[in-house]
Amino acid sequence: MNSMSKIESSPPTAWAFAQQGPIPVGSAAHRDMFCRMLLDTFDPYKPEVIDWPKLAPDALARLVSLPFWTIAVETEDRASANIAAFAKSLSDPLMREAVELIAYEEARHRRVLSALVDSYGIKLDAFPPYVHRGSAEWNFMSTGYGECLDSFFAFGLFELAKRSGYFPMELVETFEPVIQEEARHIVFFVNWAAYMQANTPLLAKPWFAAKRLAHLGLNGLSRAGVASDADEQFATQGKDAVGVDIEIGPFMDMCLSENDRRMAHLDARLLRPTIMPTMVRFARRFMPG
Ligand SMILES: [Fe+2]
Ligand SMILES: [Fe+2]
Repeated sequence: MNSMSKIESSPPTAWAFAQQGPIPVGSAAHRDMFCRMLLDTFDPYKPEVIDWPKLAPDALARLVSLPFWTIAVETEDRASANIAAFAKSLSDPLMREAVELIAYEEARHRRVLSALVDSYGIKLDAFPPYVHRGSAEWNFMSTGYGECLDSFFAFGLFELAKRSGYFPMELVETFEPVIQEEARHIVFFVNWAAYMQANTPLLAKPWFAAKRLAHLGLNGLSRAGVASDADEQFATQGKDAVGVDIEIGPFMDMCLSENDRRMAHLDARLLRPTIMPTMVRFARRFMPG
């Protein structure tokens, strides 16, 4: 049965790499582990057969008026194009297969959104088709760090939407596989970045590290408009959109616990994204609630 057409809240099946013992970051075993994680946990759902629930007029109006549909579609288009271009540049067959699968999944997110937009008559703003240009690795890093930042809040918002009852559970659950895929993508990405850093020749290491830092900075700024209060602003708008009155502090707690939960089933030897959780844990000390 197609996994998108049923309600499924149970945690995903645990995944462990077959090889026992410690796996040094940057080793061939490390590469095999993060690539296999991605490939082995693939969910073969088909967006075209999703049974979109009929919505009551008020729920439909809330859904249609959410402010982010065009941005969401553009983001998926850009992600799939960037990741597909990067896959083509790879010579390692296993890495290439895994990155191709991520590109396929991003394109499938777009198909889910297209199906939703068609089903509920959502109007998208006009936007120019994304044209991939520049360095494939640079664009892949940009997409990867972007996903790490966005997913941190998306996990909390999704849980909030589930608990609020603001939208029917059937509709919310339709996005469960999409959200879970992002957790796999960001685990893959941070492991890939650490693997690359470890395998970069000594002289080029500072350059690769600088690129990682640049992407973090650029991603933070592009989401913020201004750097200060950006995360709080994003989180506030998001939680308003799912119709819940919750203090920023408890909401951040929810993001932190969802972030842990969404990756808990994956082999503990895989690296996890740490930047957003660390920053938010620090900032949480100064937040009310
Ligand atoms: Fe996506
Ligand atoms: Fe993704």
